[in-house]
Amino acid sequence: MTADAMDQTSEASPPASMFMSIVQEIFYSPMNLALVAIIAFLVYKIIKDRIEVPSVGSQKPPEPELPKLRRDFTVAELRQYDGTGPDGRVLIAVNGNVFDVTRGKRFYGPGGPYASFAGRDASRNLATFSVAANDKDEYDDLSDLSAMEMDSVLEWEMQFKEKYDLVGKLLRKGEQPTNYEDEEEDTDKDSKASDVSSYITAASSDSKETAASASSDETIRKRNTTSTTEEVK
Ligand code: HEM
Repeated sequence: MTADAMDQTSEASPPASMFMSIVQEIFYSPMNLALVAIIAFLVYKIIKDRIEVPSVGSQKPPEPELPKLRRDFTVAELRQYDGTGPDGRVLIAVNGNVFDVTRGKRFYGPGGPYASFAGRDASRNLATFSVAANDKDEYDDLSDLSAMEMDSVLEWEMQFKEKYDLVGKLLRKGEQPTNYEDEEEDTDKDSKASDVSSYITAASSDSKETAASASSDETIRKRNTTSTTEEVK
């Protein structure tokens, strides 16, 4: 059958053969065939991209892990780890403990909502629910915070312990750094657990208050003067 003959056939029965006539029209013209091929290719590309792009986009390439740090910091030393350094590491101190929060860079890194905490002792900000800049050069003993504010600091500290690696202590003026060199690897998680429990034990054995309400500066002092090496073991 010729193309003309087919056209005539399709014209003879309009509704049913409408689709067929279009198909015939397409397949009998090389130009139309080429157009169909192009359209099919574009549709394929669009669908393929739709399927692939979201999955690729949501799986961001994992950032290379920085080597684990284990040391104590003075307030001035801590300042250098605000995420603007060459390795982008971000450290934050909470209640005398320094945490590596590089994993939470979207919060604390440059331009993040809590960038003002980066390289700083964030305790006071966390206690007072403030993101104001903290440029104090001195160690903050938090002694003027209320019991409620201290409770808040302790809760934040717990959260940081859960989520981030403990690096060391924030040193008071004149305080000597702990030597962590002999420490075994992978004791961080253990130290986190024992650190919290030793704090609770210390707090409850010294006063009848609960761990949460025993948040006086006495408690903080106790935490900060306890050797972390001891806690880790
Ligand atoms: C309108 C006010 C605020 C909103 C809507 C807000 C919202 C949030 C949200 C949604 C998260 C969880 C993000 C996630 O886990 O994916 C978060 C985390 C956090 N927020 Fe806020 N926030 C506010 C104010 C503050 C303030 C004033 C502080 C200061 C203390 C603060 C400190 C934090 C911290 C420390 C985290 C934890 C980040 C981490 O996981 O390391 N937020 N905030």
